[in-house]
Amino acid sequence: MGLAAGVPSRRSDRRARANPPEWAESTPLRQALTARAGEALREGEDSAARVLESSLRTRERIERATHGFHAYPAGLHPDGAAALLTLGEGPVLDPFCGGGTVLVEALLAGRSALGCDINPVATLVARARTTRTTEAERTALRGLARRAADAARRAGLNNADSGGRNTSMLRGPVPELLWDWYDPWVVCELDALRDVVGNDPLGRAVLSSILVKVSRRESETANHRTTEARPPTTTATLFHKRAREFARQLEDLAGKVGEGAEPRVRVHREDARELREREEFGMVVTSPPYPGVYDYLPLQQLRFAWLGLDPGQALADEVGSRRAFKTDRNEATAAWKRDTARWVKVTARALRPGGRMAVVIGDGLVGGRPVDSLGPLGEAARAEGLVRVARATVERWDEGVERMRPEHAVLYERAST
Ligand SMILES: C[S@@+](CC[C@H](N)C(=O)[O-])C[C@H]1O[C@@H](n2cnc3c(N)ncnc32)[C@H](O)[C@@H]1O
Repeated sequence: MGLAAGVPSRRSDRRARANPPEWAESTPLRQALTARAGEALREGEDSAARVLESSLRTRERIERATHGFHAYPAGLHPDGAAALLTLGEGPVLDPFCGGGTVLVEALLAGRSALGCDINPVATLVARARTTRTTEAERTALRGLARRAADAARRAGLNNADSGGRNTSMLRGPVPELLWDWYDPWVVCELDALRDVVGNDPLGRAVLSSILVKVSRRESETANHRTTEARPPTTTATLFHKRAREFARQLEDLAGKVGEGAEPRVRVHREDARELREREEFGMVVTSPPYPGVYDYLPLQQLRFAWLGLDPGQALADEVGSRRAFKTDRNEATAAWKRDTARWVKVTARALRPGGRMAVVIGDGLVGGRPVDSLGPLGEAARAEGLVRVARATVERWDEGVERMRPEHAVLYERAST
């Protein structure tokens, strides 16, 4: 997961040393690790294993291209994704593309890519972050953002003058739940932004990028409330600033990728267990959900409501959700194994002979007990004739549960014949 999200703080480093994980003895992997937190286990081809390890260790904040534009839970670190891409060749597939970090890095490396995700917020963000724009398109985005911010400022001030919840001022539908999560003038500003942005995909992605920050929700991954108030017009100003930043990031991306039809990135809203793609890929780089760690769909509740996105069937199709593990751990573990077998099967078949698959995955931790991710992944890979080339495992501090948890990066290869 969250290489970015899993970055240990100084405080957590100290705590990690003071409290070695008590479930460590029950994890076979632990036998090969030393007791020191943060130490790595490497296996297989040494040079590949070192690259895998480095992909788990990268931490620095990265500004290049469109990275950092839109938060997404458990995003791979851009340098980690770039390192993994060096382990194979040809067009790239990421069946769990999330916010599109692998796809952006594929573009920067001059490689075409396909990303899939069932989450409509993920596909909105991944598409926006991989859009190759012209100067005219970026100018249009800046103009749209200026008009939207002007309208939103007026709407916010009108509301603040009249006070409270005034639905007669709204331009579009605002579901009831949103009034609980925003100051009333923020609702009016967001409503005006949404109205002016309309169906513009880049404008919608910018709007999406601020929806949690201007809400009363504590963070992207925590559904707690804060009481912090947001003064009128600051939402409009933030939107305008984000749009200008995004236009600059898109310019950086376009400059680095250059002109021409290739490389090309496509993003599909699709279940990774039922990949329909018939094209062959030289490489897969992906980070599937870790068992029982996040509820990717419910975390995007505010964005679904504002952007009129319907998760629909995706709620039932989400692999490894935390809610499933909380409901029935045994059933969820069995389902997770089945799902792993399904996505590995279709993904392996999309690899051309000699193609490689790099997977970053962590063990789950539910009710203080570990959920093994590596065993089922290995079983599924073997069943599809994938050979393990190398693996690295690092223990990482999980802020969410305040415990150490193993994270793995594994490289497989499809036999050449
Ligand atoms: C660890 S995140 C991927 C993060 C991504 N590597 C990034 O850098 O942003 C896992 C993703 O799997 C998606 N997902 C869960 N179940 C899925 C399924 N059945 N098919 C496709 N995607 C799924 C979630 O929506 C989430 O975006």
